Amino acid sequence: MSTNRRNFLGTLGAAGAVTALAANKAFAQTAQETPAAAPMFATPSADSRALTGKVAIVTGARANLGRGFAEAFARQGADVVVHYHRAETLDQAQETARLVREQGTRAALVQGDLGRPENVKRMFDVAFSEFGRADILVNNAGAIVKKAIADVTDEDLEAMININTRGNFLCTREAARRLSDNGRIINIATSLLAGAAPNYAAYAGSKAIVEELTRMGAKELGDRGITVNSVAPGPVDTPFFHSMETPQTTEFAANLSVAGRLATVNDIVPIVEFLAIPSSQWITGQTIWINGGYLTR
Ligand SMILES: NC(=O)c1ccc[n+]([C@@H]2O[C@H](COP(=O)([O-])OP(=O)(O)OC[C@H]3O[C@@H](n4cnc5c(N)ncnc54)[C@H](OP(=O)(O)O)[C@@H]3O)[C@@H](O)[C@H]2O)c1
Repeated sequence: MSTNRRNFLGTLGAAGAVTALAANKAFAQTAQETPAAAPMFATPSADSRALTGKVAIVTGARANLGRGFAEAFARQGADVVVHYHRAETLDQAQETARLVREQGTRAALVQGDLGRPENVKRMFDVAFSEFGRADILVNNAGAIVKKAIADVTDEDLEAMININTRGNFLCTREAARRLSDNGRIINIATSLLAGAAPNYAAYAGSKAIVEELTRMGAKELGDRGITVNSVAPGPVDTPFFHSMETPQTTEFAANLSVAGRLATVNDIVPIVEFLAIPSSQWITGQTIWINGGYLTR
């Protein structure tokens, strides 16, 4: 059998291969002579929890979206590395870890500024030392500033680039080196990358790398079955959003959605959860806009 044909059948798995071959006598003959090739991608676990045996790393998971992702992965059976940034938020990170364990899986905590490569490496080291592997990375950590371009200070710019640009790159690089085959990289972008709004140039500009990492990562890592995708939320009802807004701008942002409200964490979590499970295998290199119809692309 040709290598191409064998690879194609491998993607179908043994059952699919037999069905396809039955329609073609010549190939059916070959199938009797040659054992079916191993599936290219791991088949989903028989356990009803789709992420049983997997290990997820969620950055910036002390609360809000990151906590939601961590809990969802645990519900699906994954062990979770809960990353948090500022040491003084340890109690919040511990609460995330408690919520993970409540789902019957394991949690490990790791703290640090992910703009620094040594902290990124240590975060993956924790996944391996505690759980023996890393399968899923959610690049959720991020920072925001809302200022006119003319008013952005050098410090503002460095803070945005530190985590939104460098941090995302460093985490993706470490994932490219150490994630298991059939793994997942899920980036948290922003709908501002498509729906430009004034005063977000430093934030959205520094986040723009996420879409490039998604496209390039998908192409580079796809032959290992690793998918790379972004989700791009519109305004989400968390302190991160409110810290930059007034009641008037909040109302304006809410009314951009067709439902006239901000997103909640629960509007975003199921999409990220789906991108993490084996049945999302065929989605890679994409940005999924989650904004209640504020943008339609
Ligand atoms: N809320 C929204 O409207 C919205 C919309 C679109 C996209 N997003 C994106 O969603 C993600 C989560 O946002 P959220 O609303 O859930 O707010 P959040 O809880 O404040 O999430 C941001 C997290 O990133 C961490 N972080 C900041 N700087 C870091 C650094 N240098 N190194 C490591 N971690 C760092 C923060 O830790 P500290 O608090 O300790 O600094 C925090 O845990 C962000 O990437 C954000 O850009 C949010």
